[in-house]
Amino acid sequence: MGQQKYEGSRSTTGAGAPAPSDRHSLTVNPDGPILLHDVHFLEQMAHFNREKVPERQPHAKGAGAFGVFETTGDISAYTKATLFQPGSKTEMLARFSTVAGEAGSPDTWRDVRGFSLKFYTNEGNYDLVGNNTPIFFVRDPMKFPHFIRSQKRLPNSGLRDNHMQWDFWTLNPESAHQVTYLMGDRGLPRTWRHMNGYGSHTFMWVNQAGERFWVKYHFHTRQGMEFFTNAGAMEMAGRDADYHRRDLFEAIAQGDFPSWNLRVQIMPYEDAKSYRINPFDLTKIWPHSDYPLIDVGVMTLNRNPDNFFAQIEQAAFSPGNLVPGIGLSPDKMLLGRAFAYNDAQRNRIGTNFHQLPVNQPKVAVNTYMFDGQMTYAHSGNQPVYAPNSAGRSWADETGQVDNGWETDGGMVRDAYTLRAEDDDFSQPGALVREVFDAAQRDRLVETVSGSLLGGVRSPVLERALDYWKHIDPDVGRRIEEKVRTGAAAEPAAGMSEA
Ligand code: HEM
Repeated sequence: MGQQKYEGSRSTTGAGAPAPSDRHSLTVNPDGPILLHDVHFLEQMAHFNREKVPERQPHAKGAGAFGVFETTGDISAYTKATLFQPGSKTEMLARFSTVAGEAGSPDTWRDVRGFSLKFYTNEGNYDLVGNNTPIFFVRDPMKFPHFIRSQKRLPNSGLRDNHMQWDFWTLNPESAHQVTYLMGDRGLPRTWRHMNGYGSHTFMWVNQAGERFWVKYHFHTRQGMEFFTNAGAMEMAGRDADYHRRDLFEAIAQGDFPSWNLRVQIMPYEDAKSYRINPFDLTKIWPHSDYPLIDVGVMTLNRNPDNFFAQIEQAAFSPGNLVPGIGLSPDKMLLGRAFAYNDAQRNRIGTNFHQLPVNQPKVAVNTYMFDGQMTYAHSGNQPVYAPNSAGRSWADETGQVDNGWETDGGMVRDAYTLRAEDDDFSQPGALVREVFDAAQRDRLVETVSGSLLGGVRSPVLERALDYWKHIDPDVGRRIEEKVRTGAAAEPAAGMSEA
């Protein structure tokens, strides 16, 4: 798609005329000045100056591949989305990334990993833009830009800074669950092939009969979970900054196609009203004992991009790209994200980013969005307004939407209403005590103390030690001991020493 085939004996200008030379500019005698009317030279220089687009803010460093999603289970009782009907096969694109690093930063620095999926369904594109963790740092989108800036660079030196990171986390204790994941093994996946992916948020599914359900997506790697140690990740960051990008490309080039099982947790619509945990709080998981996993299908990545810039850098994912049978939820983070992505892409790629081959749906588009820079797809002389008398169709749904929910009340600026088990520390505590084994807890203590020793100062240091004691008294005490004696074995990979 969009790829030109180059045949014939020589290159051309952008206008297709034979290019005079790709080796010599036009000069007055061999040693003389360059002439301003060397249009080919000027075109080459000017286009080179515009080769880059702004990198993603955040998730700048990443790579991806194309593949297929096959629905093997029968979940038609929960959603009418055609891609999830039994036997359905859907072409797709995946992009994996780190969050905070810039476009050239090492793949093995400790960070959450992005897990972006675009399904080219027969009802339009469906995007699931998740991470390799089932939860997130904050639960109100107002905090998101502050969070990202705290993980990036200091305003004066331009350096990454542990102090700033821990300052943000400890002032926002709802981060404890995600920080525990980040400081655990999942903060250093061995490769993208060896990590799980999650939709993280709660979404809505609607079946053919109009019944609504709440759903969480889990993509379990079929390659098995594997991780780096701090030392291994640090060494790899220096040896091969593109290790994850290279691993995925080479595996697919060799026919070793990575795959993931998609499983979902389904919550009946009415349960959400009285569940003991706010089911829309992105810092919480739903215990599997309450809502067990249900098999949906398999995602396999089997085709590398032909061109990184055109197909990966210009790929535009958005949690707002939904198809019939799937909806958003009252998760404030998700609602904030539904706006943010396409707006970022209009700025990053251009007004008509959706017309680029990698972003184009496989179905016919009949949109009343017109013109703008770089318009390629157009509707000829058809009406540019709706309704119209010339037969161009338009949409006209009225009444209650099928993927909505009921809401009422005055307008406020406030946190979610707390439910019985909505504290910030129970779930990260359970993760440390019940999910991590003793060796994982040891590594967690090493990693956190290494990060805290890397330039975190009072009063943030005391707050951080307190934060860990709230997560788990024993782990907190061990971290404090190491920090007080300056005894962390290894600094945490990717955490700066500013
Ligand atoms: C209110 C909260 C959030 C906002 C405003 C936000 C905003 C953004 C923006 C503007 C981008 C760059 C998009 C682009 O240039 O194409 C981005 C990328 C990304 N975000 Fe978020 N984000 C939020 C929360 C999250 C959460 C909770 C997750 C995961 C569960 C997530 C996962 C990602 C991923 C995976 C990418 C990379 C997309 C790609 O591969 O192209 N973000 N985010």
